[in-house]
Amino acid sequence: MKPVGVLTWLPGGIQQPAYEQQTLLVHSMTADLEHAQACGGHAECGTCRVRLVSGTLTPMGHEEAELMRDHPGAFRSGERLGCQARPLGDAVIEVPSDEVPDLRDA
Ligand code: FES
Repeated sequence: MKPVGVLTWLPGGIQQPAYEQQTLLVHSMTADLEHAQACGGHAECGTCRVRLVSGTLTPMGHEEAELMRDHPGAFRSGERLGCQARPLGDAVIEVPSDEVPDLRDA
């Protein structure tokens, strides 16, 4: 795989190569970051959410858009599911420091 850029994770500033073929969640696991993933990457729980600070990610797919539509107010502007979004180039990504509620319990 050829990297498309560099991912920078906040807080902490850890950097790693960005691969379009891998989700942000796979990237963060590779970097040994603490990153919740209660539903195992099925776009059902929202616990893997991240905030895009800068850069470009793949467009939102149907399952991700549906989860956000079904839970209005649960997501802040710029947030994406780490288990669905993939980088398209350099990107700065923030992982929430607070515990995120599992939307399957909502
Ligand atoms: S791990 Fe559950 S929505 Fe991503």
